[in-house]
Amino acid sequence: MQPAADAPILFFDSGLGGLTVLGPTRALLPTAPIVYAADYAGLPYGQKSEAELAARVPALLGRLVERYQPRLAVIACNTASTIALAHVRAALDLPIVGTVPAIKPAAELTNSGVIGVLGTEATVRQPYVDDLSAKFAGDKIVLRHGSPGLVTGAEAKLRGEPVDPATIARAVAGLRDQPRGDAMDVIVLACTHFPLLTDELQAAVGPGVRLIDGAAGIARRIAHLTQGQGWPDAPAPGLAVFTRSADRPPPPLATLAPYGLDRIELI
Ligand code: DGL
Repeated sequence: MQPAADAPILFFDSGLGGLTVLGPTRALLPTAPIVYAADYAGLPYGQKSEAELAARVPALLGRLVERYQPRLAVIACNTASTIALAHVRAALDLPIVGTVPAIKPAAELTNSGVIGVLGTEATVRQPYVDDLSAKFAGDKIVLRHGSPGLVTGAEAKLRGEPVDPATIARAVAGLRDQPRGDAMDVIVLACTHFPLLTDELQAAVGPGVRLIDGAAGIARRIAHLTQGQGWPDAPAPGLAVFTRSADRPPPPLATLAPYGLDRIELI
């Protein structure tokens, strides 16, 4: 059965990083109703254990799916996807799109054969990343670094606060200071928060290094999976949902409005 035209697409991240996936999706599907859910009570995911995320993410997504009845859910978070995608798919009966590090396109782009993967600490240690590296970049050197500071920096930047240049420099050094790091010519932004800091990161690495992420590919995948389905005639107001956190209030609506989100709900 076809979903109703007003059935939303659900985006899920620990915070605001998933907006970098929502942006290109809205460009392809401008009238798609959107529910964007951020687990502020659980942010940052990058510093949580595998066991905690494997339990937390499917449970929370289950609640969100029940409440908002989406036609499809997007886990717009590399950490949650590399750890919990299989658990979520097993638990829920709707199409789930995950976000995984863009190692395959990076391997196709590199000339030097040295690729950097910048993610959260949890993402860069996942066997999922070992598998992607072995499968698509077996003849390349894949350097990895986990940077919690960039997650904080990206959240701050979206709220209009300054980003500490030392945080950016530390993240870049975390890759470059590894053996063969000086030859690295492509960096995979393997956390959905990091493209929010593309300008700062590009300035720090210089023009000889390309930064890539998977957002455009995920948007195409969402469009493909919903092809032929009905949509509203005009853009519907988007809803942003935040899990309640004592020390992290939701951002002002002005931060969310450019992404078509004009209502906030706390759960
Ligand atoms: N946006 C998330 C990701 O793509 C992680 C941020 C966090 O540490 O919660 O990995």
